[in-house]
Amino acid sequence: MAPSVSDIQAPSRNETIWQNIKKEAAKDPSYPFYFPYFDVNEKFPPTEIFEFTDPGTRADPAKPHLLTANTTKRNISPYIGTELRGVQISQLSSAGLDELALFTAERRVVLFRDQDFKDLSADRQIEIARHFGPIQRHPTSGNVKGYPEFHVVYRDVEHDRFREYIGGDRANRTSWHSDVSYEKQTPGTTFFFILDQPGSGGDTLFLSQVEAYKRLSPEFQKRLEGLRAVHSAVSQADHSRSRGGPVRREPVETEHPVVRVHPVTGEKALYVNQGFTKRIVGFRTEESEYLLNFLFDHISKGSDFQIRATYEPGTVVVWDNRLTAHSATGDFENVVRRHAVRLTPQAEVPIAG
Ligand SMILES: [Fe+2]
Repeated sequence: MAPSVSDIQAPSRNETIWQNIKKEAAKDPSYPFYFPYFDVNEKFPPTEIFEFTDPGTRADPAKPHLLTANTTKRNISPYIGTELRGVQISQLSSAGLDELALFTAERRVVLFRDQDFKDLSADRQIEIARHFGPIQRHPTSGNVKGYPEFHVVYRDVEHDRFREYIGGDRANRTSWHSDVSYEKQTPGTTFFFILDQPGSGGDTLFLSQVEAYKRLSPEFQKRLEGLRAVHSAVSQADHSRSRGGPVRREPVETEHPVVRVHPVTGEKALYVNQGFTKRIVGFRTEESEYLLNFLFDHISKGSDFQIRATYEPGTVVVWDNRLTAHSATGDFENVVRRHAVRLTPQAEVPIAG
């Protein structure tokens, strides 16, 4: 006998989630080559200073190779973020890549859609990113065996390092930072390509540190002039050690100017971030906390100079780490896999503004 309507019950939320967990856990990542690899015995020597010329300095300001008749351009907001379609990063000539550097500096963040980048060979991906500087090898994060240039972002039902790092008891998981800003030569034009993504959620928030700086009064800007702040890799290394992860290079603490100048555009940008900036050099503890908390608050509340970068299959997000801060959004159930890879070319020693 067929069940009556009252006998049919929708599965409870917990049952539904559990069914999804089983379904998702049974699937393999679409790109298993990039599954995060952690070797606690992997070690890197301390970094050394290198000569750096930003490729954007060589670019034709009209950008004829990047913004062709086939390229569709949509600005996401006036201050930050542009979506490009109809251009393949993999097909750009050296001149086109120079233009990409300049365009990214001007727009802060560029979302390249429908890219074949994820299907290129690892060597070719690295070769493209190297155009923008030597690629940072992350001291603690998952990389790819034999390819320490890849920084792997991975989350599924069994792996949730992001939540662990942010702290399990936080009311929200927003965590503004500029990548590895503790390095002496901090990242410039940075590449991030998506491999597996949730149906919704998992966007990246970006803000313009140029606009954040411009919003301050001339008097306050003057007060920031000449100040330096310490950026530290120590908590990241401690966290990795505490969970049995690698520390491939001893953590560094580096002083950077609070306001930096972009080497190509000459624009000034705030260069402090909650993730790594620990204190203002020469200030008493309370003074330093007061100023940094004000700046962190100022940038995090600036919804009028922030965007959300969304992901579609084939999206490559390129941003200028010197002019932006960003945060992941951990807004999706961890039954869903999110898998992405970052290539992080390092740029100049920050120029004081
Ligand atoms: Fe990041």
